[in-house]
Amino acid sequence: MTFPAGFLWGAATASYQVEGAVTEGGRGPSIWDTFAAAEGKVLGGATGAVACDHYHRFPEDIGLLADLGLNAYRFSVAWPRVMPDGRTTSAAGLAFYDRLVDELLSRDVVPVLTLYHWDLPQALEDAGGWPARDTAFRFAEYATAVHDALGDRVRQWTTINEPFCAAFLGYGSGVHAPGVCDHDTALVAAHHLLLAHGLATRALAGPGHEFSLALNFAPAIPDGSSPAHAEAARKFDGIHNRFFLDPVLGHGYPPDVVSDVAFHGGRFAASVLDGDTDVIAAPIDWLGVNYYAPARVTPLADPLAPSNCPLPGLRGMDVLPAKGPLTAFGWEQAPSALTSLLEWLSSRSDLPLVVAENGASFVDRVVDGRVFDAARVNYFMEHLGAVHHALRAGVDVRGYFAWSLLDNFEWAMGYTQRFGLVHVDFETQRRTVKESGRFLGRVAKANGLGTPAEGVRDPRA
Ligand code: FCB
Repeated sequence: MTFPAGFLWGAATASYQVEGAVTEGGRGPSIWDTFAAAEGKVLGGATGAVACDHYHRFPEDIGLLADLGLNAYRFSVAWPRVMPDGRTTSAAGLAFYDRLVDELLSRDVVPVLTLYHWDLPQALEDAGGWPARDTAFRFAEYATAVHDALGDRVRQWTTINEPFCAAFLGYGSGVHAPGVCDHDTALVAAHHLLLAHGLATRALAGPGHEFSLALNFAPAIPDGSSPAHAEAARKFDGIHNRFFLDPVLGHGYPPDVVSDVAFHGGRFAASVLDGDTDVIAAPIDWLGVNYYAPARVTPLADPLAPSNCPLPGLRGMDVLPAKGPLTAFGWEQAPSALTSLLEWLSSRSDLPLVVAENGASFVDRVVDGRVFDAARVNYFMEHLGAVHHALRAGVDVRGYFAWSLLDNFEWAMGYTQRFGLVHVDFETQRRTVKESGRFLGRVAKANGLGTPAEGVRDPRA
């Protein structure tokens, strides 16, 4: 498989999942500190208080990534480090990311900075959180503060990671922080997350920088070919994928989805003010595509029957159990769905695509200082093959980021799901590079690495 010159070969992490040091450097509490501390929210009562101790060990971790042969690191900035109370900038908080970025550049690794990967300052949640419109404006201020501090060295910016999860898991099903269970509230939160993306993109736009957001897509696979099956797939695809994609592409919220969710009480429609969809459509330079698994869907006899899937507006359809082979998380391994997803996205927009997250959890064991994670090597082989198929079909894919550089705090699952290219012993913080990490590095090196100057720009342009 040959990939284009300048392709970004990277690994991703997120602040709360790896940093630890939650009270150091003046960091304020985030909604994830609060949520994880509450009884019964995270498996085993785990928290991100120490996580991978990346806050102290980042030079070692970046060294591992660079030594593998990868050329890009997608990380997120913790808003509560930079603004402990959600509003006032902390020089000490910014200084950490200053050191992190300098370390990356010294190792010729492209920093790909995500501004929000779910750790909202608790103070802003107390003031209403994402269901409050004001939070979107606070986000734009925070984005500007980070950009002022790091914009001289960071060219690649992602505003929000997976607004779907932040809104629907955080405020809808309540399985993520802050643990609110109300679909109407979740829809309003989703709108404000997208608005925050647009406001920040407008505020930061300027030459020499590239902007994006990362959406998590779950392609809907109907388990039959009847019109009712197609309708079940339309519903799932609508609320999971198009609800977030369409407004970013400038098409506004999809009318079929807006009518599906209308019965939730109408706060969503009222929250979309004149001009908002123009803000959300602020031009971006590439789209981050997070892909893990498709959803198999089936219609119910009664089109109004409640769905087993807790997403706003879903009725008259169910999500079926995943089909094997599965990962340890129980997620279906379906590389061909990644090819069709990339082709579908490319048929809908000219935006360059970057696979910003893709990976799998398996049960890994360190034996004699090595981790032979053959299942994960196979996973990467198949999914890189899927990306390559899309490239050959003419899709403009500019990069691939494995989730994750390190085994880490997997949200509500605590430390039970290992996704890393590098194994972490959470007792000793010892790192062991897995075979899958070496594999990905070999593919990257065999394809010739881009330089930080090339970034995701079209090398042929
Ligand atoms: C994604 C998240 C990421 C990680 C992976 C497994 O939805 O963005 O933080 O938890 O799932």
